[in-house]
Amino acid sequence: MSGEGTADPPREGMLVLLLSGPNLDLSGIRDPSIYGEQTLAEHVAAATEEAGRHGLLLEHHQTNHEGDLVELVHGASGRADAIVVNAGALTHYSWSLHDALAAFDGVVVELHLSNPQAREPWRHTSVVAPVADGTVAGFGGLGYRLAVTAVAELLAGEPGPVSRKERSSKGER
Ligand code: DQA
Repeated sequence: MSGEGTADPPREGMLVLLLSGPNLDLSGIRDPSIYGEQTLAEHVAAATEEAGRHGLLLEHHQTNHEGDLVELVHGASGRADAIVVNAGALTHYSWSLHDALAAFDGVVVELHLSNPQAREPWRHTSVVAPVADGTVAGFGGLGYRLAVTAVAELLAGEPGPVSRKERSSKGER
């Protein structure tokens, strides 16, 4: 890892997989007062533009099926350098997604449009958070740009808080 202020930019062409779980395809239609008025296509466009600014490639997939999301995470190993995942309600109970992400050897950023911590109690638990480098939540569509920026910084080896790899080597996952 580079020292402070000497981090290299991410390697040109590194791949970020943006994964959207159940009901994210309804963005712009579903509860706009909570999730905003932008469509998923607009969020993906913003994330893609931000990735381009950092020299990263971005690929997006949306699914309403837990097993498909797990398969997408499996398929990321050895291909993608980072995953940004908004798992929708699966965030709160999908241990199969948790285990799949734990097996992925790259950067993981958890993303939410809303701030689940400020909502119903059942949304306060995230099974994604323990296997993510960090979480971006509550910033609406801006979160997509923030999540990609976080990925770029982490891929560039910016010094930061204890990474999930360091955590896992300490058995804290
Ligand atoms: C969400 C938050 C989840 O609690 C919810 O089930 C979603 C969307 C968000 O982006 O704010 O489907 O992940």
